[in-house]
Amino acid sequence: MVTRSEFTKYFLPVYNPGQFIPTKGKGSFVWDQKNNKYLDFASGIAVSSLGHCHPDLVDALNQQSKKLWHLSNYLTNEPAIKLAKTLCKKTFAEKVFFSNSGAEAVEAAVKTARKFAHNEYGKGKSNIVAFDDAFHGRTLLTIALNGSKRMTEGFEPLPKGIIQHPYNQIDGLENCINDKTAAVILELVQGEAGIIPAQQKFVNAIKRLCKQHNVLIIIDEVQSGVGRTGHLFAYEKYKIQPDIVCSAKALGNGMPIGAMLTSTKVGKYMQPGAHGSTYGGNPLACAVAFEVINKISKKSILNGVQKKEKRFLDGLNKINASLNCFDEIRSAGLWIGCKLRVQSRLNLDNLMQAAYSNKLMILKANNNTIRIAPSLIIEDKLIDEGLERLKKSIQQLLD
Ligand SMILES: Cc1ncc(COP(=O)(O)O)c(C=O)c1O
Repeated sequence: MVTRSEFTKYFLPVYNPGQFIPTKGKGSFVWDQKNNKYLDFASGIAVSSLGHCHPDLVDALNQQSKKLWHLSNYLTNEPAIKLAKTLCKKTFAEKVFFSNSGAEAVEAAVKTARKFAHNEYGKGKSNIVAFDDAFHGRTLLTIALNGSKRMTEGFEPLPKGIIQHPYNQIDGLENCINDKTAAVILELVQGEAGIIPAQQKFVNAIKRLCKQHNVLIIIDEVQSGVGRTGHLFAYEKYKIQPDIVCSAKALGNGMPIGAMLTSTKVGKYMQPGAHGSTYGGNPLACAVAFEVINKISKKSILNGVQKKEKRFLDGLNKINASLNCFDEIRSAGLWIGCKLRVQSRLNLDNLMQAAYSNKLMILKANNNTIRIAPSLIIEDKLIDEGLERLKKSIQQLLD
């Protein structure tokens, strides 16, 4: 049996995983090597939105695994075409590029936007406006977009032409979004920052300036997309017409896949040789994602998200009323951030450990916030049970 200490021995020390090693999952439960059973309020990080090993997804993967695993992009394949067609039918998009991850979808988005601006308006229009506390990934380009020193220090020189502006601040936006801007990249809800929704008036101001200066709008829906907020994509709620959307995470429910969605007009300069990926559009990942998108776009699942969100919020408010442990509870569908009360002496890492020892998996965000992102189809009684375990974990640390 492999051990956690072997992880330390052999892995680049960029991660510090929990002490147990999970070996299997089913629905909202995960088991470790010792057969301990955990209730999952994390879904990877907002990935396994239909729970672990959903039978229909297992079936889609099994079926495809017997047919065709891989071809280069010199040839296309049926699952990729079916998935692209479905994504276009269900969203604003007319063209799709498949990647393997969220960061790669963002890379494709920025390249597509710059190419468009360059070809339509000339060389000087290349800046990308991004926002403080954003998270767009861990590649060199995406850490530059994240803008936080913590992520960029030591990795310089970074890609140029990125302008940072405070999130949800309208003042000064007009100094950043101008004729030199190719695109604005925006999360409509900042996930890694602790579930911070964009204000509608901030989004409207961006929309207005982008229109005025012919600037493209890239919406990063890697975490918010595919049902997490109770909409197939969060841009629907904000009534914004994006030029480009980045998707990943829940799109594959655990199969590595990302997608950049755009219009024919914006994508038209991305001709052969402009971009590519060995595994992008892989038949196995696309066959699963096709099932995922068809299931999650059903009204019954999306409406269920809002009902379950309410159940979570009621439960979390009750915990707060009894333990006075949160300064704020924020949510956007089944995506909930509980900011720990500063005076509570609660430490987020200790709380994660306490939750694990009470057989509950939760997430952190921004060093002060518990993040909850369960399966979108989690049963109500499991929500109540998980909240009990969370309460117990907090109580143990306060005692
Ligand atoms: C909004 C957003 N964009 C991009 C990424 C990067 O995705 P990946 O880790 O798949 O590269 C993430 C990951 O958390 C994300 O939340």
